[in-house]
Amino acid sequence: MARVTLFPRSLFFRAIFVLLVGLAVVQAGGLYLHASDRADLQRLGQAREVAARVMAVYRAVVMSPPEGRAALLREMAFPPGTRAALLDAPPVDMLPALLGVGRLIQADLALSPVPSHLRPHDVVVLGSLYDRLMEVGLALPEGGGWLAVRVTVPAPEIWHSTLNLAGFLGLTALAAVLAALVVRRLIAPLGALTHAAEAFGRDVDAPPLPETGPREAAAAARAFNRMAARIRRFVQDRTFLLSAIGHDLRTPITRLKLRAEFLDDEEMRRKILADLDEMETMLSATLAFGRDEAASEKAATLDLVALIRTVLDEAADAAPDLGGRLTYTGPERLPLAARPVALKRALGNLIANAVKYGDGAAVRLRPPEDGMAVIEIDDNGPGIPEEDIARVFQPFQRIEASRNRETGGSGLGLPIARNILRAHGGDVILTNRPRPGAGLRATVSLPI
Ligand SMILES: Nc1ncnc2c1ncn2[C@@H]1O[C@H](COP(=O)(O)OP(=O)(O)OP(=O)(O)O)[C@@H](O)[C@H]1O
Ligand SMILES: [Mg+2]
Repeated sequence: MARVTLFPRSLFFRAIFVLLVGLAVVQAGGLYLHASDRADLQRLGQAREVAARVMAVYRAVVMSPPEGRAALLREMAFPPGTRAALLDAPPVDMLPALLGVGRLIQADLALSPVPSHLRPHDVVVLGSLYDRLMEVGLALPEGGGWLAVRVTVPAPEIWHSTLNLAGFLGLTALAAVLAALVVRRLIAPLGALTHAAEAFGRDVDAPPLPETGPREAAAAARAFNRMAARIRRFVQDRTFLLSAIGHDLRTPITRLKLRAEFLDDEEMRRKILADLDEMETMLSATLAFGRDEAASEKAATLDLVALIRTVLDEAADAAPDLGGRLTYTGPERLPLAARPVALKRALGNLIANAVKYGDGAAVRLRPPEDGMAVIEIDDNGPGIPEEDIARVFQPFQRIEASRNRETGGSGLGLPIARNILRAHGGDVILTNRPRPGAGLRATVSLPI
């Protein structure tokens, strides 16, 4: 079973994930810079506002006679968030303001239109815009004590407009979509390469990969095509060699047969001719083996169930006494792309073995799983000793000489079947079925 991970394994999702996380971090950083810049700007305005309000109160107070100042403050209508009081000493109930803000407020106070003899001769600025509370103490002229003005400022509005935020989110989404498109384009050649390798595994004559696209993708396609061509040549050479040997040996065998006819020893002649006959059979089988590989049969869509039924019918025709011991269970249809003659030969060889060594075949087609169709061919014969199972897939390997003579056969059935199935991207494995029932099971897997 595949390991369950929270992180998807597909390259596409991983690349998108990394890009989006990177994008989110960059965007968050950008937003932070933007927001803090905006807040700073607003605080600058707030400092000016504090200075203006303080000065408005100061002017009203300093212009009025000292004895009426307390009454004036009581009756004065302050703007919201502003309070004022007369003190004997400078206010001390808050920490001094940061130097920058303090200076800014003092400079703004100095610029305000107050006659020079009425200007405060001392100013203290307390509090902090971050705590949203400022207090300015101004020394009134002629020993009139201090005027303390407190101003509450609103928090800076960073998300001033929702349109801004929507636009920002929209841009982020656009960037994400672009990233997805680019990643998909970038990894597309990888998918093409996978398909090509898969197709080549099933058919060495599969069409080559188009050598187009970005430079790196084209180079990979070229390398793949070169590799495929080399393998194709290699397979062809080997097949050709096999056919050539098989073919050339025929003539000397025929010659030997003719010469054997002149032998006087009857018994000897019969034995030699029998051996030569056997050699000829093996040669024909070898030639067929070679031809099969070389055969450039085209793949077509076929119904696997119909193919299995045909093979079973033909086996039943060849051995009418088997009757009901050739059975099929499974779905009624399973379309599949394959080379029909070759696949029929492969299944035919396996079913023929079940008939020959096990007196009947029970074929079962299991529902496809993970893109693989699985066919099980069971018989009730003696099975194959575990240590010989690998060996019977080698050409000309047969088990137990005594059985050979009575059943006949060249020992090429299984290797041919496996060659064909592997060329289709599938395989066949043999297992001995547990008792009771026993016998051999050939499990064929075929990609659909
Ligand atoms: N279903 C089976 N039950 C028992 N033994 C088997 C079975 N199938 C194959 N074998 C053994 O494996 C050997 C190899 O099988 P394979 O089909 O390659 O050759 P063959 O049947 O002897 O000859 P051919 O198929 O070429 O006529 C057989 O000789 C037989 O001993
Ligand atoms: Mg056989």
